[in-house]
Amino acid sequence: MPVRSTQLVLHLSAEARYIAAAEFVTTVQLRLSMSRRILVTSALPNANGPIHLGHVLEQIQTDIWVRFQRMRGHETLYVCADDTHGTATMIKAEQEGVAAETLVETMRQLHMADSRGFLIDHDNYYSTHSPENQHYSELIYNRLQQAGLIFTEQVEQLYDPEKGLFLADRFVVGGCPRCKTADQYGDNCEACGATYNANELIEPKSIFSGATPQLRGSDHYFFDLARYTEFLQAWTRSEAVQPEIANKLAEWLDDGLRAWDISRDAPYFGFTIPGTTDKYFYVWMDAPIGYMASFQNLCEARDDLNFDDFWAVDSSAEVHHFIGKDIVNFHALFWPAVLDGSNFRTPTKVHTHGFLTVDGTKMSKSRGTFILAKTYLDHLSPEYLRYYFATKLNGSVDDLDLNLADFAARVNSDLVGKVINIASRTANFLVKQFDGVLASEVHDPELMSQFHAQVEPLAALFERGDTARAMREITALADAANQYIAKHEPWHMAKDPEQRNAVQLVCSQSINMFRCLAVFLKPVLPVTAEKAEAFLNVDALLWAHAKTPLLGHTINKFKPMLQRIETAQIEKMVAASKVPEAPAAAATDSETPATTETIGIDDFLKVQLKVARIIDAQPVEGADKLLQLTLDVGDHQRQVFSGIKAAYQADNLVGRLTVVVANLAPRKMRFGVSQGMVLAAGPGGADIFLLSPDSGAEPGMDVK
Ligand code: 2FM
Ligand code: ZN
Repeated sequence: MPVRSTQLVLHLSAEARYIAAAEFVTTVQLRLSMSRRILVTSALPNANGPIHLGHVLEQIQTDIWVRFQRMRGHETLYVCADDTHGTATMIKAEQEGVAAETLVETMRQLHMADSRGFLIDHDNYYSTHSPENQHYSELIYNRLQQAGLIFTEQVEQLYDPEKGLFLADRFVVGGCPRCKTADQYGDNCEACGATYNANELIEPKSIFSGATPQLRGSDHYFFDLARYTEFLQAWTRSEAVQPEIANKLAEWLDDGLRAWDISRDAPYFGFTIPGTTDKYFYVWMDAPIGYMASFQNLCEARDDLNFDDFWAVDSSAEVHHFIGKDIVNFHALFWPAVLDGSNFRTPTKVHTHGFLTVDGTKMSKSRGTFILAKTYLDHLSPEYLRYYFATKLNGSVDDLDLNLADFAARVNSDLVGKVINIASRTANFLVKQFDGVLASEVHDPELMSQFHAQVEPLAALFERGDTARAMREITALADAANQYIAKHEPWHMAKDPEQRNAVQLVCSQSINMFRCLAVFLKPVLPVTAEKAEAFLNVDALLWAHAKTPLLGHTINKFKPMLQRIETAQIEKMVAASKVPEAPAAAATDSETPATTETIGIDDFLKVQLKVARIIDAQPVEGADKLLQLTLDVGDHQRQVFSGIKAAYQADNLVGRLTVVVANLAPRKMRFGVSQGMVLAAGPGGADIFLLSPDSGAEPGMDVK
């Protein structure tokens, strides 16, 4: 810790610190073209439950920003953690009959797996229940105390005498004192909107034991936030928060801030406050310190990182927090004040987003729109949602809707139909006729320069989080590229030997336009971008690569990069997310998921399954998805059309054993009659897996 400069800053007035902050912002802007050191966080998910699409929205928003910064060449570190402390974790662990430590570690593993599933590239995913977090929580508290910013005061609170537990408002239910509606939680009524103290509820009950709570006094520790009013008035106007957030905070700041209660009584899952044995840090005190702890833990694993470089008062690095608007007071009032009061730097920027709705309303378990991260991943590719959220996020705090029909339409039309199409329509001509070698000049420089001209404007949009506008610009470029291809019709020119050069020029330009789009979309679609890199036969794409075309370079054969979304995948995800409002006893007793309809054994026995060997497989002219399979079923051969073309090369299937539904009525299709059906698993497209019996099975055997 550089003590001299810390002391200097501490002696500055709030106004002077504001000016220093403003100068810092300007410096950051000046350094935009230079390499920056950036630490990024998203809000720490609670350890007492699984993450859902609301969390995923924020992590995707953060991850896109992080990946973009890395592509610009900036050193960007992204840390997160689980937020573990508090009564809710303690109670949950008790209900599950495990130690709180065991519960939080299990949840951390699950949360990490979900984040990885959505391609979130954390440098570290840690826990607030960690030695590093205890160290920094105590350090910060001790510094605040030395600075005279901590005091104690008696607080009267509801207490559950049976559980031996002080009750937060949300742990108390009772009748609304105004409209008398029963079963209202805590301090506000869902029926009439009244706000009150939990102890004013009619016949209040503890949600844990049902006991009538008692009012009890105990000493609490407070952080003297009121002394930070002037500092926060300046800080919130320093571009550290979005203007609409600054306006909202100004309402609170103008009313004057009250001291913040940072302690909770035992029993509590958390860290004891130094000098006490039965007072704990309130979970919201140590949660943001978890950002520092996760970073410290990363520094311990990496020689090139130093904690103070990022967190000291005079740090030239940037710290960016991504959060939802429900927790803005913790991040834009308490947190900068606590940091300043304990001689640490304040955040460069708090990026706040709105709430997620699904199909226009709050996520609902009964409608199947309260979608867990894991449930989504069981049915759909993460990149679809990454793209859709990117089309919606605009850097404002407006709420954002996941419209499931629009979701499929946008992905299929923009990505598969427009962007990928550019490469899939043109690559084969280059590979087949020119050994994959691109032309050594640009065919339509004016059109190409439209792409190059977007490099910096698009970067500015990503920088300020307006990916919605960036995606619109990218789609417009994709439209221009497709129009160019449609105008030149390389498939016609390819038939005319005199137009050979033109075919190479047009297809090469198309591939170069595709490459620019791959660069611009890479922060959003990292896996597709990797496939594009393999196809283009290039190293990892960086933002600057979109400024110049590839000339005379050899590309590889085009392989499908992204499948269309099938409506059935979305329907299955919604069905799997549905929780009946009042589950019937039978449904809860049974192990069968509520969404599975059962059939009797008689029905099952009607289906005749037989082992078959594929003796021939051919693509079907005019059918994108079908292969025509000739099957040896023991005593005869038959022909079956199967929608597995995206997943299998016809040649590779010949000789393979599979299972056929032998007594399916023949179906007349446009291409011929299909005499049965082969069995395959998976959602479809390239993700379809033909079922095969073990070797030793013979064509014609019954499958039982
Ligand atoms: O609101 C929440 O879910 C909190 N667990 C977020 C904490 S963010 C940070 F402060 F730790
Ligand atoms: Zn009411």
